[in-house]
Amino acid sequence: MAAMILSGTDLAAEIRAEVADGVVEMQEKHGVTPGLAVVLVGDDPASAVYVRNKRRACEQAGLFSDAAYLPSTAAEDEILANVRRFNEDPRVHGILVQLPLPGGINRHRVIEAINTDKDVDGIHPYNLGKLLQGRPVFAPCTPSGVVELLLRNGHDPEGANVAICGRSEIVGKPLAALLMQRTRGGNATVTVCHTRTRDLAEVTRSADIVVAAIGQPQAITADMVKEGAVVIDVGINRVPDPSARRGYRLVGDVEFESVSRKAAAITPVPGGVGPMTIAMLLRNTLTAARINIHPELAEGH
Ligand code: GUN
Repeated sequence: MAAMILSGTDLAAEIRAEVADGVVEMQEKHGVTPGLAVVLVGDDPASAVYVRNKRRACEQAGLFSDAAYLPSTAAEDEILANVRRFNEDPRVHGILVQLPLPGGINRHRVIEAINTDKDVDGIHPYNLGKLLQGRPVFAPCTPSGVVELLLRNGHDPEGANVAICGRSEIVGKPLAALLMQRTRGGNATVTVCHTRTRDLAEVTRSADIVVAAIGQPQAITADMVKEGAVVIDVGINRVPDPSARRGYRLVGDVEFESVSRKAAAITPVPGGVGPMTIAMLLRNTLTAARINIHPELAEGH
């Protein structure tokens, strides 16, 4: 049977509309417009696309948006100075430093320079620590987008066996923490697979939910997925395609054609997790602006 397609595009539009309502309310009640600043270093084409999409989504939802575009030759001090500038800017409630940073830059030093109250990407060690303790204020955007996609499509992970393929700092590890939480969207039994996993297919075949975040085109094939599983594809890979206008096309980490005939539900690429990441970023920025006005909202977290 053909899988149900879990559209991130549609759900993200819904969430962005909710954020837009929240922005209007904040402007009316407090005269404050939530703002997001993005720091992009270098000229990685995929990163440039993400940053452009993030800024456009901000503007459409009524948020203030600012950015610092630095050359790949930028010194670490220059990057840090821009982060600190946004830390001080009262129009900016959220700061996102686009990763990866060019070689030679210590990303930990840059991330740790972000004011934790403005870390809407949820990647500062303080916010990751709070996430591990089960009291997140800002959870990383792609993992929260994955959980939101599951929940709002009726696939509550509670009690489910979830196989996460990939242990990255911004997807695999924080997603495991979210899915393990004792709260709604959590309570799953999580297995994190990686390059040293002895038998990946054995683990993914026993999972009710498979999350592919490996960064390898079409690595998860139909024989690795059990009948009726829910498959979430976090991958965005460019593969050469002479028939495409740009000379490449985007594919995920899942072999969509075959897996979609076996799974109960699957996310497409593009149009799956990608748009959700941006929607969650906007939502976190609205949350940051709310906490700035009402610090008690973060208490207990
Ligand atoms: N690069 C790709 N995805 C992300 C993300 O969610 N956050 C940041 N900061 N960089 C990214």
